[in-house]
Amino acid sequence: MTYDTLIRQALIIDGSNTPGYVADVGVHAGRIRTIGDLSTARAEQVIDAHGRVLAPGFIDVHTHDDTVVIRQPQMLPKLSQGVTTVIVGNCGISASPVSLRSDPPDPMNLLGKREQFCYPRFSDYRNAVQGADPAVNVAALIGHTALRSNHMDDLHRTATPYEIAAMRVQLQESLEAGALGLSTGLAYASAFNAETDEVLQLVEELTAYGAVYTTHLRSEFEPVLEAMDEAFLIGRHARVPVIISHLKCAGAGNWGRSPQLLAALQAAAENHPVGCDCYPYAASSSTLDLKQVTDAFRITITWSTPHPHMGGRDLQDIAGEWNVSLLEAARRLQPAGAVYYGMDEADVRRILAHPLSMVGSDGLPEDPFPHPRLWGAFPRVLGHFSRDVGLFPLHTAVHKMTGLSAARFGLAERGEIREGYWADLVLFDPLRVRDVADFTAPQRAAEGIDGVWVNGVLSYRDGQANGARAGRFLARSGDLRGGFTAL
Ligand code: ZN
Ligand code: CU
Repeated sequence: MTYDTLIRQALIIDGSNTPGYVADVGVHAGRIRTIGDLSTARAEQVIDAHGRVLAPGFIDVHTHDDTVVIRQPQMLPKLSQGVTTVIVGNCGISASPVSLRSDPPDPMNLLGKREQFCYPRFSDYRNAVQGADPAVNVAALIGHTALRSNHMDDLHRTATPYEIAAMRVQLQESLEAGALGLSTGLAYASAFNAETDEVLQLVEELTAYGAVYTTHLRSEFEPVLEAMDEAFLIGRHARVPVIISHLKCAGAGNWGRSPQLLAALQAAAENHPVGCDCYPYAASSSTLDLKQVTDAFRITITWSTPHPHMGGRDLQDIAGEWNVSLLEAARRLQPAGAVYYGMDEADVRRILAHPLSMVGSDGLPEDPFPHPRLWGAFPRVLGHFSRDVGLFPLHTAVHKMTGLSAARFGLAERGEIREGYWADLVLFDPLRVRDVADFTAPQRAAEGIDGVWVNGVLSYRDGQANGARAGRFLARSGDLRGGFTAL
């Protein structure tokens, strides 16, 4: 037979957390057709991949790309890293199902302006993604805060039984239309007053589907262990998997506690499917939160509606220039976005290296001066943390961004290089791959990513996107509890 594409002699790191092997890969009709010795085979396009690694396309399990996949479907920040699938709807915020009556509440404004929330049903969003032909595959969670915004006049209280019932109906409809599960952002003021019982009732809708519960914990500061317990309680109640989003020890008083957090995660994993995602940086980013303003670590402003020219500057400098306190400066800048240099590097490494953690960027594509994780998270794990620091072998780095992720989120026939699987693939140079984006120049493509295929279509080559947009909407493909059976 004649293949569409033949990738010859790459070191195949297949996503299963086992060391690589050299072979040829034949791709046909969007799928990996043959792995082996194809020296006599013919193809439309032949790529000599000698000395390079062929891995499954990376799955960014933690994104806020909900509206950008439709408005800027070329998805260059992700494609240029080798990402072939994004999971949207994290941290309690999703573009659908949403019917706004005014401007989006914080932090839904991270996803776009009011007019970008035009998907009253999840099926509307799904159709819009399909119609936009994004360059990467898209799967979606439903945000708890998004559901609250549909049914509550005031987000600073817990929901009434009537409001919870209305949210349940929308969640159930969305799951039926292929949503992966429910996300919460309980740390944010727009969900913080939701009592545990509100979430317990909502997750009951997940049980029948075996859908996943992901959570930006109620606290990532001193009460983080209590917040983890709340998350596990919620998951056990519904008998569904729990993913802790961007697990971290936030705030100077909390540094060094990652062994405790990981012990708690490990203990919970013994009798329930749990895991976490993590981005490979010791700084976080979100909207500017007055509760997080401190002089214990550096804070930079990424955007500000009243003071747009302050993007990229230190809060300390701004406060000095205005001759006001940090808190007063922050108040004047709002609404705004910030980077908080509030983690300890040793904690980041411990969490990233833990077998239960996956890689997710948490990139903020709307931000005019984004945290560099938007453009650099995946190559940073491969280059900086695996190759240069030696935190884990390359096949483990790849597993944390492919096979593990696909299993956890039930993305069938993706996340591994196997015959019959979809040909989401990335070819990279293991010696050269590195993140280039940093905190001063955050919008720069990684180096060493030589080729990216999405559903068998070459979409990025040698530092350039070629305009192909072969991504698809990925509906939940079964009971996600199965993704944890290997534990
Ligand atoms: Zn979050
Ligand atoms: Cu997030």
